[in-house]
Amino acid sequence: MNESIYSARFISGPEEWERQCPVFRRGLKITKECVKATMCASSLGVYTAYINGQRVGKQVLTPGWTDYKTRLQYQTEDVTSLISCGDNEIIISVGHGWYASRIGTPNNTKGIYSQIPYAIAALTVEYADGSKETVYTDESWSVARSAVLMSQIYDGETYDARKTEFEWMPAIVSEKPTSILIPQEGEDILELCRTSAVKLIYTPAGETVIDFGQEVTGYVEFTVKGSSGQTVKIEHAEILDKDGNFYNENYRSALSMVTYILRDGTQTYKAHHTFYGFRYIRLTDWPEEIKLEHFTAISVYSDMKRTGWFECGVPKVNKLFSNIIWGQVDNFLDIPTDCPQRDERLGWTGDAEVFCRTATLNFDTRKFFKKWLRDLWSEQEAFNGAIPHIVPNLWSHQFSSAAWGDAATVCPWEIYIAFNDKEVLSDQFDSMKAWVEYIRGMGDEYLWNAGSHFGDWLGIDAPEGSYKGSTDQYLIATAYYYLSCGLLVKAGKVLGKDVSEYEKLAVNIKKAFNSTYVAGEGRLTSDTQTAYVVALDFGLVDNKALFAKRLVELIEERGDALSTGFVGTPYLLRVLSDNGYSEKAYTLLLREEFPSWLFSVNMGATTIWEHWDGLREDGSVWSKDMNSFNHYAYGSVAAWMYGNAAGIKIDEAKPGYEHFFITPEPDERLGYVKARYESRYGSIRSEWRYEGDKIRYCFEIPKGTTADVTVGGVTRVLGEGIWYI
Ligand code: BGC
Repeated sequence: MNESIYSARFISGPEEWERQCPVFRRGLKITKECVKATMCASSLGVYTAYINGQRVGKQVLTPGWTDYKTRLQYQTEDVTSLISCGDNEIIISVGHGWYASRIGTPNNTKGIYSQIPYAIAALTVEYADGSKETVYTDESWSVARSAVLMSQIYDGETYDARKTEFEWMPAIVSEKPTSILIPQEGEDILELCRTSAVKLIYTPAGETVIDFGQEVTGYVEFTVKGSSGQTVKIEHAEILDKDGNFYNENYRSALSMVTYILRDGTQTYKAHHTFYGFRYIRLTDWPEEIKLEHFTAISVYSDMKRTGWFECGVPKVNKLFSNIIWGQVDNFLDIPTDCPQRDERLGWTGDAEVFCRTATLNFDTRKFFKKWLRDLWSEQEAFNGAIPHIVPNLWSHQFSSAAWGDAATVCPWEIYIAFNDKEVLSDQFDSMKAWVEYIRGMGDEYLWNAGSHFGDWLGIDAPEGSYKGSTDQYLIATAYYYLSCGLLVKAGKVLGKDVSEYEKLAVNIKKAFNSTYVAGEGRLTSDTQTAYVVALDFGLVDNKALFAKRLVELIEERGDALSTGFVGTPYLLRVLSDNGYSEKAYTLLLREEFPSWLFSVNMGATTIWEHWDGLREDGSVWSKDMNSFNHYAYGSVAAWMYGNAAGIKIDEAKPGYEHFFITPEPDERLGYVKARYESRYGSIRSEWRYEGDKIRYCFEIPKGTTADVTVGGVTRVLGEGIWYI
């Protein structure tokens, strides 16, 4: 914690500048030998700071997105090497960011928190003689209209490279409280990957389009030569339509456009204060011959350490896995977003809830989720424990939806078991409890049979004209009530709290579920795949074999196809595997026709689609309204790849992989599997391979851990080493 920034003031340009981005400036004369200089900065908006023309730190889109009402992160950078003796110039360039861009709803034209952005900073210089001096943002700073004429999250950026002279005026000092400032909690947001342009396309409609071959989140960096006043205009898209033309109607109201006004000569540009989700760009305006080497897509995301890898003998499954990894990095930009391109890019709780386990296997998400969960807690309704649909929240009070609000219990638990991090449970315990109490206050005491829910969102079995799958929304809600209550009990026990009341509550919810939603031997009142999946996975029904049999019948009735949406899909294969139908799980994984994971791979996907048939077989689009090609939710199947196909499972009694299980489920159709997870103890590997009529296994168990490894029905306890079976 650096105290200095709390004495600084938020500064801005005038209200009437509206969409125009401001730049702030202050001089600093140094007359003594400086031994250390530290800058703390933040903004209500997004900012980049420079000292003497050099960038401060490497992060982009700082300060990230939090519940700005109560929590605003600041960044601290050592800037000793940027300071020099004599005159120094501090510049802070600010964009509207999440705080002041139009965001959250398609129709609003202005920011929800504010219409203009603010900056705040404190630069402390320590001298060789032991003295110190701090410069704070206050009335001593100037502000001008910057060369960034407009920068909005959804609409893109307009930049005038001719603008090098600024009309400075005194910055406006705001009364906004500094008590909302907190040291950065999340991972650094960095430019982490560069993707070259792969193809120049002249479309049938006569457009000039560049393909990067991969959908990314970030921005294009381009180099262009021209003369002052010429322009570059770039639009972004995820797909080409069935005729091969540029298509971005699914971005809805998000313009996602770069407008760049050239100065004389050769120049390079990339976005300053915004980002785009895209694979293709359309050059609506480009002043010279197009050379692919002049375009690079830069990926921007939270710098999480990669921890998980999966490979098998079916290239299409490997492509699916790669799409899942891309879907994660494209949507883990400081908060977990539903998608990175259209007029949403919001922290939808349900999406994060279903994807959390996969995310946490692929990357070390501990810091990332802990920060987001604190925002969830601060956004949770104090009076009744309701969880908003999106965190950070932009909307006024809403009903909470099952499976979405349950991010409050599921995500802390997943982070705890993956990293043995009790702090996440103690941070979130009150939030978890308030959430369970919210549910208890809805409907009958033991059933969550009230309110409106997203149901099995985008399930294939949705009635015509609806986005909600046909599973009874209250069956799903009551199942989640049970799940959340159970997780609260487990968390309470880890923390040594008395949770006996909730243990009883869970027993009663289960009873009520059975008397309300069980229709007879192995049958549920809602006879859908998702209903059986949640009932089985959450442990709501006892005679599992009968219910699992019905689930399999429902899959077979559809010709070995799934019909699940956001709620059923994440657990579908796991439920099949865990109930003795591993072969059926593989059949679904390997299915190539719609609806299936590999259908999107066959259609050229490079990330995970929101909708099972975002693109139809003939290349036509399903809809322009709810049709993102970069929505990670269905990527949650990777948890099954690690946990069932390779069989690496956490032991909740010894979390963080101190002890774990390996129960691989080989299937000849995959040929081989190699999975690796980098735990805090070291590498865990599970590999199997078909060789003639034999299956060869290889396991790696890191030092300090043990694993119960089950192969061919025999369980062995293995310690450190590489084991071949
Ligand atoms: C979002 C989803 C989200 C859903 C809620 C959509 O618009 O993109 O991913 O979970 O709304 O139903």
